[in-house]
Amino acid sequence: MSAQGMAPSVPSSEPATFSGVAIDGNNNEVKERHIQLVKKRGNVKALDEELYKQDSMDLKVEFETHFGIAHTRWATHGVPNAVNSHPQRSDKGNEFVVIHNGIITNYKDLRKFLESKGYEFESETDTETIAKLIKYVFDNRETEDITFSTLVERVIQQLEGAFALVFKSIHYPGEAVATRRGSPLLIGVRSKYKLSTEQIPILYRTRNFENVKKICKTRMKRLDSSTCLHAVGDKAVEFFFASDASAIIEHTNRVIFLEDDDIAAVADGKLSIHRVKRSASDDPSRAIQTLQMELQQIMKGNFSAFMQKEIFEQPESVFNTMRGRVNFETNTVLLGGLKDHLKEIRRCRRLIVIGCGTSYHAAVATRQVLEELTELPVMVELASDFLDRNTPVFRDDVCFFISQSGETADTLLALRYCKDRGALTVGVTNTVGSSISRETDCGVHINAGPEIGVASTKAYTSQFISLVMFGLMMSEDRISLQNRRREIIHGLQSLPGLIKEVLSLDEKIHDLALELYTQRSLLVMGRGYNYATCLEGALKIKEITYMHSEGILAGELKHGPLALIDKQMPVIMVIMKDPCFAKCQNALQQVTARQGRPIILCSRDDTESSKFAYKTIELPHTVDCLQGILSVIPLQLLSFHLAVLRGYDVDFPRNLAKSVTVE
Ligand code: F6R
Repeated sequence: MSAQGMAPSVPSSEPATFSGVAIDGNNNEVKERHIQLVKKRGNVKALDEELYKQDSMDLKVEFETHFGIAHTRWATHGVPNAVNSHPQRSDKGNEFVVIHNGIITNYKDLRKFLESKGYEFESETDTETIAKLIKYVFDNRETEDITFSTLVERVIQQLEGAFALVFKSIHYPGEAVATRRGSPLLIGVRSKYKLSTEQIPILYRTRNFENVKKICKTRMKRLDSSTCLHAVGDKAVEFFFASDASAIIEHTNRVIFLEDDDIAAVADGKLSIHRVKRSASDDPSRAIQTLQMELQQIMKGNFSAFMQKEIFEQPESVFNTMRGRVNFETNTVLLGGLKDHLKEIRRCRRLIVIGCGTSYHAAVATRQVLEELTELPVMVELASDFLDRNTPVFRDDVCFFISQSGETADTLLALRYCKDRGALTVGVTNTVGSSISRETDCGVHINAGPEIGVASTKAYTSQFISLVMFGLMMSEDRISLQNRRREIIHGLQSLPGLIKEVLSLDEKIHDLALELYTQRSLLVMGRGYNYATCLEGALKIKEITYMHSEGILAGELKHGPLALIDKQMPVIMVIMKDPCFAKCQNALQQVTARQGRPIILCSRDDTESSKFAYKTIELPHTVDCLQGILSVIPLQLLSFHLAVLRGYDVDFPRNLAKSVTVE
């Protein structure tokens, strides 16, 4: 298995992300108005360096303004290059520029229409259609003094799909308009001075049409102070549009979460929000909320990557998930967000637990203990597949939506699907104010703290614990389950200490990574409580190391995967002292009989497995249903070290985004 002496056959790690910014030029003279666009290969840091490298820069202004829009992403359409990156523009004169998160599903039709009107496209993106469309609406406006937000309103009426958009235009200097549908968008508010309001009333075209007409007339310059947000006494207030709070937390922790179809406009230091029409369920205002997120929580500290920091934070993050909820003296669990719905949940016909990727794995990991503690049938579902199948859902189902970001499009769509069918919906998220936490009937915040690395680590262990806590809360009155509950609660109490012990194996795991990093494949095999560990470990490995990796259910070995086993194929086996131990021994025999050389993750006191192991990683023992929390950590560490050794950017793996806000 050792690959010493071999050259690593890993592809180049040249950054394939692009970042771009559009800022107002000198707009004092109408004929000199322009917007400066700068795009750069690489991440935001590379763009930042480019902007301040004055001599190589083509900027005509030296930042007289600090009003701009910027973006970094992998293109969903077209290869990532400067032309396909954002901001996208309406024309060579940059009359309108836009940045976009999400995906426009009808862009081909729109593009065809615009091409028929003579618009020439330069990129392969769906976003360019939006930039061209707003210019088309502007060029064909019926009145001279149409407002920027009215233009945006008309544009989004034509768009299908998911989007968070921010626009700028040379026709509206010093203004920006933002809107969203299906993709997250929030506004950070920073001011040293008292703000005019803490609740921004929504302007509706129908009810406040006069106001909107007034806005049209004055180009938002003299908005009625009761309909917009500004600092008292015309003192400066700064606004930040962002898809995620962690992007702006260094500037402010005061934010407004926009709802689908809100149109937010900033002009002359004032923010106003309008919607086309009002529905009965609409909240007529948007509150400024204060986030409990500290800058140091999102800084890397002494770690080389956010992912590494987040792996090592797990003793604290799992503690924070349990803090104030598990009473280790009385052996009780109270999840405040669920307590009012507990009776209804206890009466339900079944639990359906839905998520994507790692969040789905947290559902797989806890399915057995949930079935045991709730005595209800538990279905676990990948959100996309659940929707593809038009799965029957009933009023007496309780549906859980597991999502770190709370914004994953597939999970959000599954939530709306279940809501429409009358099921009780429960969110399990890590992001306060996220779409999933707002749209569910009730929920649990996992309190893991901000997770920045694209590969999810601490969110997994906190989701795992949140679901176990739910099971414990449900079983409080079951006499027959009291011993088991005590055992699990005791196990929860000792978890932070045991996680620290597992983290102390880091050096050993690094040495293992040195042996493995040139390999092309890595299989991870296990069963029972640890099948999810294998799926999750394999996902971590493939997403950040780009190696082929598969999580294999050991019970399925004879039904196909055994054919892969030989002396070359690296295999990790997770064998814990739990009810599947004997069956795992059986699988181990099958692997070694084919000259496989398994690396075994096992309990410290397991002398049996180690006899057949090529290498062992020995872990402390805990209750069977919590063991997966300890056994996943060596695989998180292994994937991290493999990725570093292969020369990749651990926190920003190619082709992946932290929040997947498109289907
Ligand atoms: C893998 C990973 C993804 C996410 C998935 C769902 O490390 O992070 O698989 O788990 O995209 O994201 P959330 O949990 O935000 O819904």
